[in-house]
Amino acid sequence: MKLDTVEIKLEKSNLDHVATDLLIVFAAKKPSAKSSTKAESKSTKGSKAKTDAPKDNTVLIEGVSKSIHAKLQAATDSGSITGAAAEFVLFRDAHVGHAKHLAVIGLGEMKDFDTEALRQAMATAFTQAKAAKVKSLAFGMDSLPKSGIAADQLLQAATEGVGLASYSFSEFKTGKKDDGISSVLFVSNSKNKGHEKGLEMGRTIVECVNFSRWLGDRPGNRMTPTMLAEETEKAAKGTKLKVTVWDKAKIKSEKMGSFLSVSLGSSQDPRFIIMEYNGGGASKKPVCFVGKGLTFDSGGISIKPSGGMEEMKYDMCGGANVIGAMLAIAKLKLKVNVIGLVPTTENMPGPSANKPGDIVIARNGKTIEVNNTDAEGRLILNDALVYACEQNPAAIFDAATLTGAMVVALGNIHTGFFTRNDKLAAKVEAAAKSTGELVWRMPLTDFHVRDMKGTYADLSNISSGKGAGSATAAAFLEQFVEKEIPWAHFDIAGTGWHNGDRFPYNPRKGASGAMIRTFIELAQSV
Ligand code: BES
Ligand code: ZN
Ligand code: ZN
Repeated sequence: MKLDTVEIKLEKSNLDHVATDLLIVFAAKKPSAKSSTKAESKSTKGSKAKTDAPKDNTVLIEGVSKSIHAKLQAATDSGSITGAAAEFVLFRDAHVGHAKHLAVIGLGEMKDFDTEALRQAMATAFTQAKAAKVKSLAFGMDSLPKSGIAADQLLQAATEGVGLASYSFSEFKTGKKDDGISSVLFVSNSKNKGHEKGLEMGRTIVECVNFSRWLGDRPGNRMTPTMLAEETEKAAKGTKLKVTVWDKAKIKSEKMGSFLSVSLGSSQDPRFIIMEYNGGGASKKPVCFVGKGLTFDSGGISIKPSGGMEEMKYDMCGGANVIGAMLAIAKLKLKVNVIGLVPTTENMPGPSANKPGDIVIARNGKTIEVNNTDAEGRLILNDALVYACEQNPAAIFDAATLTGAMVVALGNIHTGFFTRNDKLAAKVEAAAKSTGELVWRMPLTDFHVRDMKGTYADLSNISSGKGAGSATAAAFLEQFVEKEIPWAHFDIAGTGWHNGDRFPYNPRKGASGAMIRTFIELAQSV
């Protein structure tokens, strides 16, 4: 598989010497008189500048040559450039130095600036540049205003912004392809070791996130459970990631009766993908990641309505993102021990499919009434969670496109996560914050557990109560995790794939790679 991820390089040079189609520099917004300090507002009180069109002193453009400044002067004077976040101003045929065109990307106010603001600005600039049909691009990294953020972190976020925005899923479009942008340079006059380090980190993360997106974007017939396992094995080649794949017979003999039952309606066999990476000391307990890998969820006998059903090809994004996180951890050679587990199957109606009311037995012996065959994610994750507990882990994290209720609650902005462990919740929040991903803690209580009791078996796979569908699903999963093991469940039903333009580095419609960056961080912080 070949992904069209753009090549990004560092160049130590003066901006005036860079030969490129488009040179992009950064602009930040200086605080307005209203939001500035009292002393500042006093000094401008009554001055003419307040009523005139904004002068260039409201825009911060640093570290560029006089010739670039001169080109931008009129636009900053007139207010065409304000430095607002996501503002992209293109000057065609500006011919500064050896660059054909010149553009300015806004960062917003520096008081709000962080790596996520940069990631988004880079992605917006890249997408706009692509629309402007340029072939090569250079960013003037020395024009980034001082922020106190370490050079490696800035370069990593910049690389992620560009690399993630460059992804597209077009392998099945025939005809002549637009080659798009072939080269991106990050130009800086200083030789900072942090730049190389950040670029390398960013490149690996981009490669792995885009790989996960590709797994998710492929439709059901082109990413079956068997293919998912094969692609994982292929991608792990050359790394220290050990991949073991269980087939249907092994899944059965390993007593994963709940997982197995979901696969029975399909002509495609299930797979259980086990990924192990030992980069930490032998005595260090592993962190386990578990991902829901439904390569297609039709709902089974409790079949889904046909409108929008095609989106259920994304029902393996939890699994794909666990695979991506594991690959990234191995490629980055992190000093951690991690295990990735992906139960993968289709959920189809068929003569052997689960029927409402059927009773299945999970690996830990618990019995479950399958009262709705469309609540299948929990029926495959539970067996994987039992297996995860057997690995004596330091913590378990799972990611799943588990419930429609999650989409209702949080939309496609925040990923809802569930844990009863406050310490773990704080770690999740810190990890997500540092990677720019948005998470929101959801409730998980004994009320939710009570709703999942079965009538004829230990548990029912659907709630006996109304509402809180995401929390009751989490409560069901909890019944398969040993109490003393710290565990958090991430419901990525709303964030696993993106619809719209909220995040400029995500495709407008397609798999997003949600929680991969957070999981890489958590592997190191637990
Ligand atoms: N894969 C779906 C959840 C889903 C729905 C993800 C929409 C993304 C968007 C899951 O398997 C499912 O169908 N869940 C049911 C559970 C219900 C029957 C208790 C749901 O949420 O409706
Ligand atoms: Zn379902
Ligand atoms: Zn599902």
